[in-house]
Amino acid sequence: MTFRARHLLGIEQLQPDEIRTLLDLADSYVDLNRRTIKRTDALAGMTQINMFFEASTRTQSSFEIAGKRLGADVMNMAVSQSSVKKGETLIDTALTLNAMHPDLLVVRHQNSGAVALLAEKVNCAVLNAGDGRHEHPTQALLDALTIRRRKGRLQRLTVAICGDIAHSRVARSNLLLLGKMENRIRLIGPPTLMPAGVGEFGCEIYDDMKAGLEGADVVMMLRLQKERMDGGFIPSEREYFYRYGLDAEKLAHAKPDAIVMHPGPMNRGVEIDGTLADDINRSVIQEQVEMGVAVRMAAMDLLARNLKAERGRAAAGVMV
Ligand code: CP
Repeated sequence: MTFRARHLLGIEQLQPDEIRTLLDLADSYVDLNRRTIKRTDALAGMTQINMFFEASTRTQSSFEIAGKRLGADVMNMAVSQSSVKKGETLIDTALTLNAMHPDLLVVRHQNSGAVALLAEKVNCAVLNAGDGRHEHPTQALLDALTIRRRKGRLQRLTVAICGDIAHSRVARSNLLLLGKMENRIRLIGPPTLMPAGVGEFGCEIYDDMKAGLEGADVVMMLRLQKERMDGGFIPSEREYFYRYGLDAEKLAHAKPDAIVMHPGPMNRGVEIDGTLADDINRSVIQEQVEMGVAVRMAAMDLLARNLKAERGRAAAGVMV
């Protein structure tokens, strides 16, 4: 198995062989998760702490389920009832929890780079569950697993990522991952929601949905991230849906077997038509959620193996 990482901070640090290793292991966890008895002991005796400084449904619950299915002792820190509310800093909070000897720390934070900073201060494996606009690596990995299972490959696909690119850590992690795996990527959205310098990623940029979707294998819609907007980026939600919202008419420009993805949570009637989101012949949105548990199990399993090996070498006095 090829997976060298000590932490999972972003897709940027992963090599294609590490991504393939993680997805292969996640495939086996999909099978396990479909059984009645879903337990393994890969993390038995290990402690996992989830620290979510931003709201989450999918990521937090799937990390918790993933840890429990791997046999870890899982603690969800209730940030809203913690000493963070009394002004304790992120680093002091992390050092406090680190003193309790966790093995895996899962962190979501509103500031880009906060999770990487925290990883420097603790002596366990850290997983980024989303940091500001920067990265959401497990989301990109679960998207990749969904695509690979549906399309039978993860190369030479035309993937359209549509909507609020500027505020999206999901878009950034997907751009990095799909680029590393040699796919053709198109970004579609209004110029106001397209980040400066995005051309560096080697993707094609469109502000017309029908032109951008032409011949696409995968259509990935993004949530309009109103909480990260400090001004008027769109004329109105109604106008936005008319021009950039995915409906059956616009989807007809993609390949007939194109799949529709959305990381959730969705704004129905804003970036995606509700009927299309629920259309099991085109939408794989619920499958993405299922893949999320398997990918998080694989990520924690691989990091735990590396952590055990590192500690074993340290105990034997071997230089690392
Ligand atoms: N996709 C995603 O990160 O969803 P949550 O915010 O619900 O975790």
